[in-house]
Amino acid sequence: MPNTLKNWKGPMAVIGIDWGDSGKGRLVDDLSSTAQIVARYNGGSNTGHTVENNLGKFALHIMPSGIFNQWAICLVGRNVAVDLQSLTEEMSQLDKADVSYKKLVIDEQASLIMPWHRMRDGIREKLRVAKVGTTGKGIGPVFADRTERVGPLVKDLKSRDFVKKIEEEVKIQNKFYKLNLNPKSIVKEFGVYQKKVKTFIGKTIPILRQALKEKKNILFEGAQGYFLDIDAGTYPFVTSSNPGVVGITRSYDLHPSNLIEVIGITKAYTTRVGEGPMPTKIDGYISQRIIDVGKEVGTTTGRIRSPGWLDLVLIKEATEVNRLTALAITKLDVLSGISKLKLGISYKLNGKPQEYIGHDAELLSQVKPEYINLPGWTEDISNIRSFEKLPKNAKAYIRTIEKFTKVPVKFISVGPRRGQVIYV
Ligand code: IMP
Repeated sequence: MPNTLKNWKGPMAVIGIDWGDSGKGRLVDDLSSTAQIVARYNGGSNTGHTVENNLGKFALHIMPSGIFNQWAICLVGRNVAVDLQSLTEEMSQLDKADVSYKKLVIDEQASLIMPWHRMRDGIREKLRVAKVGTTGKGIGPVFADRTERVGPLVKDLKSRDFVKKIEEEVKIQNKFYKLNLNPKSIVKEFGVYQKKVKTFIGKTIPILRQALKEKKNILFEGAQGYFLDIDAGTYPFVTSSNPGVVGITRSYDLHPSNLIEVIGITKAYTTRVGEGPMPTKIDGYISQRIIDVGKEVGTTTGRIRSPGWLDLVLIKEATEVNRLTALAITKLDVLSGISKLKLGISYKLNGKPQEYIGHDAELLSQVKPEYINLPGWTEDISNIRSFEKLPKNAKAYIRTIEKFTKVPVKFISVGPRRGQVIYV
């Protein structure tokens, strides 16, 4: 295993170890300069990966964040819910910036997000008493249909029967869910997408297996965060796919033991958007300050994210389950100027210490976190490029995270632009 991520060797994965929005896009963009394959493995257009580089600022939802490495093959795995409206918009964004995506391959077995999935997502959310706060992108319904073994796949775009299939499915959806969908307009809309994406449809697994045989540098890009996992997360306040290492297997039939490095990424603090418990939530002035300085507004939905102190109880759980070999801490610069910092290290429930209360949203909403207090720093750290040069208290903050999780921090970001990073 290389000591620093700068000269990484794959296969390697970047996975969120929180509730998403950890800055995976910028880390993958950074690491992908030496990748030969970048492979998205979960989520759908609920994902918002922001990449800011010398070509501009991009919001990617389906397109892998490694697309800016023009030599890398970019894969979209079969367990990604493919939203063609979003993907074609991203393609236009890239066209405008002269970024080629000719090495993109979308797995033919992936499910397509259809207009009825978005409609059903909206209707269901409206009817819920306890809201989940979904992104409204049709994620729940598309994965529900996949489990029910209905709904079009990417490969249907290449089929002669595509129009017939859509027409038949629209009839069923209208009847079953009492929708008022017009098959003609859906066929027309998808005809446009079909032309744009047809040449990018293929089988991703043989490409990946060949790359493994040739010991190529493969980077797996996760979406969301481990605690939004459909099974391991705080159900029902979760998404419908697997952001952890399991998701890699589901998309690519690759056992996690093949991974040389598994990087867990989180911000230097925690945020959550949508509903669901967050034990270390911060209120008041510091919360607003983090929102303002960290620009904590969702890339996909424009919603404000709620900030919390970094919750090491959750991070430790994600670390152990996913066998992390490295941590990446982003947005450390956002904490500059906050005089007293806290790290959540344990929970108490009704006054009794509680080791870990994952999966159970109800219990997680009742626990009281216990913290260690650390002094903050006032210096602007956005121009620092080596760990040693960080203020003493910033170093102590990072070292405390390492000590608690027993995983080395190998990457720190200190600003939004490419290059504003520290490889430790
Ligand atoms: P869905 O994935 O749109 O169904 O949303 C389910 C829950 O996951 C909601 O609380 C969303 O806010 C949250 N969620 C989904 N995708 C993301 C993401 O990329 N970042 C942060 N939260 C997300």
